[in-house]
Amino acid sequence: MSPASTTRVSHVFTKQELCMMERIPEPCGIIIFGASGDLTHRKLLPALFQLACENVLPKDYYLLGAARTPMTTDAFRKKVEEGIGNVGTPGQRSEFVSRCTYLTGDYGDAALYAKLKGQLTTLDQEHHVPGRRLFYLSVPPNLYESIVTGLGASKLSTASSPEGWVRIVVEKPFGRDLESSRHLNKTFYQSFNENQIYRIDHYLGKETVQNILMFRFANAIYEPLWNRKYIDHVQITSAETIGVENRAGYYEGAGALRDMFQNHLMQLLCLIAMEPPASMDPEVMRDEKSKVLQCLRPIPYGECDKRIVRGQYVAGTLQDELVPAYRQESNVAPLSLTETFAAMRVEIDNWRWQGVPFYLRSGKRLKERVTEIAIQFKHVPTSIFKPLMADQLSANVLTFRIQPNEGIGLRFEAKHPGPKLCMSSVTMQFDYDEAFGTKPPEAYARLFLDVMLGDQTLFARKDWLEYSWQFLTPMLENWAEKKEHGLRFYPAGTWGPEEADELLTQDGRQWI
Ligand code: BG6
Repeated sequence: MSPASTTRVSHVFTKQELCMMERIPEPCGIIIFGASGDLTHRKLLPALFQLACENVLPKDYYLLGAARTPMTTDAFRKKVEEGIGNVGTPGQRSEFVSRCTYLTGDYGDAALYAKLKGQLTTLDQEHHVPGRRLFYLSVPPNLYESIVTGLGASKLSTASSPEGWVRIVVEKPFGRDLESSRHLNKTFYQSFNENQIYRIDHYLGKETVQNILMFRFANAIYEPLWNRKYIDHVQITSAETIGVENRAGYYEGAGALRDMFQNHLMQLLCLIAMEPPASMDPEVMRDEKSKVLQCLRPIPYGECDKRIVRGQYVAGTLQDELVPAYRQESNVAPLSLTETFAAMRVEIDNWRWQGVPFYLRSGKRLKERVTEIAIQFKHVPTSIFKPLMADQLSANVLTFRIQPNEGIGLRFEAKHPGPKLCMSSVTMQFDYDEAFGTKPPEAYARLFLDVMLGDQTLFARKDWLEYSWQFLTPMLENWAEKKEHGLRFYPAGTWGPEEADELLTQDGRQWI
């Protein structure tokens, strides 16, 4: 057989814009804690500005940035200008910037919340906003409690008018393990109800991730195949080429399992494995995702070594450049045990997935930046193309390319042209850019919009979060106890430790 090739079979189709609803939120104020930080600058401001340019922000809105760094509103506006860059028209930029104000304060100090309350009342009046407030916690997790408590104590966590609402968005990681996430939930509940809490996972805002639902449930031909009878296994990969960058302060205490698995990878797994929901209702959708996690077969403490691989990068060559080891990055402990890579074999004990392994991996400083989900189907039951046997014919693979080159591919066997009976594997491609003539929008933009609209579908619910921690916590405990033993080192610019390949080879499979 000749090697697999990529064939653009056809992606020309009629576009039908079937929009389910028009989504323009009501006037509101957006208050970002941690407004002087990196996330606000790189992601949140550009996302909000994108919404402003698309005219999907409410007619009346304002943005208040709060942080410990002393800064005037003018200086903050300068930072906002830098953050949004050259997107949009000069008029759109100055309009957006003019709606921004800044407040300096210490998150543990009641005076900050008293000042905040006064400013919000004024801003509400100036911008005709009837007490609708979206608080965004873009701060390190150790500050969540002070802010949530401060908001509660000053009654900023409850609506100040009958038409008002208060919602709070919280970045991951939500806790460090099962116990701490439960504790954090309790702290939130002292001031907020679950329907006010938006635990953000930016992967859920990615178009390609949302498209998994459309693909599965808006097409009739796949769902009958979506089960243990036809699917051999599933691979979920989220590989990054970047290292820890300037985030060692956070990452040293987190590692790949808390940073990528507990949230992003578990969400992807749920979207692939969930049952068809009865509707798009947020609770119905989230019920189905929680059920998947409830069916995860626990990995017993004693089996962690066999089923999970943890790695850390050492110096290596990536895209022709020599890059340092994780332990040599700034603010990383010289003998750090933090994993920058993890891979695991997961099983779901339910009728649909019994016996179908899900292999998950994620790491930093890997060979390529790619997030993909590959569904490998079973081999044909028998071959009529003797002497080729059934297992010599490549199995079909459906790949969701989450990023980059967003799209979907289906690999299948085709006859090679010519008189001989030869076969090749070819891939039928769907490409977002080409099909829709546009790049997928920024994930945070979609999520901001959903919070303003009060739609919690794409946010993690308390029970989901706890099931996820419940599954991962024994692994974290096992690693903490084993210390260096079992930590595998991999050169930057590779696909991670060899042991991650063995997870599959011991099952007679390999990474696609
Ligand atoms: C974040 C993690 O949630 O996701 C980062 O904290 C990681 O460590 C990032 O780099 C990856 O996001 P994306 O959208 O680039 O895949």
